Amino acid sequence: MTELFGKTKDGQEVTAYLLKNKNGMEAKVLDYGATLVSLMVPDREGISRDVVLGYDTVSGYEEGTCYFGATVGRVANRIGKAQFQLNGTIYQLAKNDNGNSLHGGRDYMNQRMWRTENVSDQEITFLLHSPDGDQGYPGAVDIRVTYTLTDGDELKIHYHAVPEADTLLNLTNHSYFNLNGHGSGPATGQKAMILAQAFTQADAESIPTGEIVPVEGTPMDFRTAKTIGQEIDADYEPLILGKGYDHNWVLDGSGFRKVAQLASEESGICMEVSTDLPGIQFYTGNFIEKENGKSGTIYGKRQGVCFETQYFPDAVNKENFESPITKAGEVYDTTTVYRFIKSS
Ligand code: BGC
Repeated sequence: MTELFGKTKDGQEVTAYLLKNKNGMEAKVLDYGATLVSLMVPDREGISRDVVLGYDTVSGYEEGTCYFGATVGRVANRIGKAQFQLNGTIYQLAKNDNGNSLHGGRDYMNQRMWRTENVSDQEITFLLHSPDGDQGYPGAVDIRVTYTLTDGDELKIHYHAVPEADTLLNLTNHSYFNLNGHGSGPATGQKAMILAQAFTQADAESIPTGEIVPVEGTPMDFRTAKTIGQEIDADYEPLILGKGYDHNWVLDGSGFRKVAQLASEESGICMEVSTDLPGIQFYTGNFIEKENGKSGTIYGKRQGVCFETQYFPDAVNKENFESPITKAGEVYDTTTVYRFIKSS
């Protein structure tokens, strides 16, 4: 099902596509930014709650700075000094975060019109042509993002791209989840689990130092599920610098596997995150400030939390981090799944 969502500032029509599964889950996605606008999930009473933050209008997405539901690329997270070297050439990107590059830098992919392909009741593919030099990155590339809402209560996001020249690719989805519903206040009472023995240490600008620090004995330890708020304000330098959790965890294992979980005792909704990627930025919405969201809600600090699956931040400049480079003609193919389970 499709509906007109609104128009961009320059008059382009934005269409909302509704995906539905047999258990009453519904996802609304836009061709503007390949954005996830809403995700309705039945709670333990069978009443649907919209578990992601978002806006009701196109202008919300045009002007918003929080990346609600956004498809972020070409490179999610930060690149130090907005610079990297590839095949002997130095590439300079836009500096949009303390002299660093964040989430693709200014000419954001989440603020462009994407084309659609293969639209059905449970699946849609968005396609964006990114020319050579786009955002400062080499190599033209067609980027495809497919959302599938399965009858197994999974929202599956599949990314596919084949660049024409060696380049960096590190796309992610920046949805903010709140399993009590998007307008229900802080998400810090919900329990998170991250299957990671370590995280990447970062400086005051959130650029990794290259050091991999064990979570053992620190507030970063989410190997056993714990309430997000339990230690979020601890006197621990990484949390002070990040104003809460805003770090990349070094995920256990490799290949497609479960890497994280979020659960709410109040709604009885539990979400499992699975991916084939090596890292996850767990960001607790520390910088959300009076953001005018859906249904007249004003979102504040920590009202939603992000599980941004990705290559590690600044990986291109760190020899010990898995490379985010996709070579010419190589296939960039990655999948992240958010699976919903009802607890009694
Ligand atoms: C970053 C945060 C940033 C947020 C919104 C997250 O991915 O880690 O530092 O504030 O995106 O821009």
